[in-house]
Amino acid sequence: MKITVIGSGYVGLVSGICFAKLGHNVVCIDKDEKKIASLKQSIIPIFEPNLKELLEEVRDAGRIKFSTDLKEGLDISEVVFIAVGTPQDEDGSADLSYVLAAAKEIAELSNSYKLVVTKSTVPAKTGEKIKKLIKETNPNLDFGVASNPEFLREGAAISDFMFPDRIVVGCEDEKAKAIFAEIYKSFAPEKLVFSDIVTAELIKYASNSFLATKISFINEMADLCEIVGGDIKKLSKALGLDARIGEKFLNPGPGFGGSCFPKDILAILNVAKENKVSLSLIDSVVSSNNNRKDKMLKKISAVLDNNLQNKKIALLGLAFKGNTDDIRYSPAISIAKELLKLGAKIVAHDFEAISNAKREFSGFENIEFFEDLYKTFSDADLIVIATEWNEYKEVDFSKIKTLSKCRKIVDLRNLFDSKEVKELGFEYFYIGGK
Ligand SMILES: NC(=O)c1ccc[n+]([C@@H]2O[C@H](COP(=O)([O-])OP(=O)(O)OC[C@H]3O[C@@H](n4cnc5c(N)ncnc54)[C@H](O)[C@@H]3O)[C@@H](O)[C@H]2O)c1
Repeated sequence: MKITVIGSGYVGLVSGICFAKLGHNVVCIDKDEKKIASLKQSIIPIFEPNLKELLEEVRDAGRIKFSTDLKEGLDISEVVFIAVGTPQDEDGSADLSYVLAAAKEIAELSNSYKLVVTKSTVPAKTGEKIKKLIKETNPNLDFGVASNPEFLREGAAISDFMFPDRIVVGCEDEKAKAIFAEIYKSFAPEKLVFSDIVTAELIKYASNSFLATKISFINEMADLCEIVGGDIKKLSKALGLDARIGEKFLNPGPGFGGSCFPKDILAILNVAKENKVSLSLIDSVVSSNNNRKDKMLKKISAVLDNNLQNKKIALLGLAFKGNTDDIRYSPAISIAKELLKLGAKIVAHDFEAISNAKREFSGFENIEFFEDLYKTFSDADLIVIATEWNEYKEVDFSKIKTLSKCRKIVDLRNLFDSKEVKELGFEYFYIGGK
């Protein structure tokens, strides 16, 4: 199958490379000339484990091309995936301007059948809007519209794409269905969930809302544990062993962030509001998550006797989660900004997100960045773990002791066993424990 993917960001690039790995011929398009120039040289502009190797493999097999010229893709493929951003608009709704601009361009530049598929996360009824726009722009064009939302997680994107729990396809006719059957023929048929377009659009938002709810639920249980003296780790484990609940997304932390959950939840609330439907549960998830940042700040501040003025904090982690360089809506970033406002000095570390973070903090004083983890500890008054990079679990505590007088750790990701860290001579504060 010949496939065009518009937007070569986290989703478009991973999808394009994985489609090529599945044996399809792919043209990845982006408006960003620098990005396309890098990709042509197999330089990946984002951090995603194993993506570079996979790109080189499919490039050597001649199955992937990169271009800024959409026409190049449209001339050879009858299926076009839109994977551009749908950022949060001022009122919380999804900003569809990039999606609709891409759809309009497809209509303007096409002169043969196209199946236009949204891979971007879009609100219910976006398919209808795209259909109307294409009809108005090019009334003679033979086309179909479909929704194929993406569920990949940054940091595990390739395996999520290649070994999905399910592939959701919203489409309206047999021709579109046959195209999807061909695109995903390498997967077991039961992996494919076909629905109408609106349902497919809703499934993506429902999934993210459910996962965000699970995170907020365990965060609130952690708060309760802290007050009444329970152990959140045992509680989470026991909860997760119930097959009806499942063990994933039961780690308490500083609240959910990233480029998806915060904006997608506001977007579904917006759709509900427009349609006069109450989603009170999801409403309360938003406020629970918003309160999280203050709770984390209070926790950090209390360890320093509620005086952050000129206190030096070694901040471990800037990305919104481990294994990515993405700092969009990262709790680590918002906590760092608040700490700076309260007079603290920050020495920050991350394995991949430092250059993105440096841009975010340009103009800020009192923040330094180190790629060498151990350089963050000297002179620190407190160590705060803000991102769950697995590598932090391997930190050498005895080396910290030789480099620094700091013996206080606030672990917002519960990476360590409290008893073990305390036995090593540190005061250790974690989420949902004493
Ligand atoms: N990042 C994730 O983990 C993830 C997971 C699932 C779904 N999603 C959804 O996928 C969509 C894309 O997210 P992302 O994180 O990949 O975004 P991104 O910002 O990383 O990438 C979007 C890309 O689209 C390009 N672009 C915008 N308009 C264009 C146009 N008209 N023509 C060509 N290129 C254009 C931009 O230059 C950019 O490179 C969003 O709707 C997001 O919610 C993201």
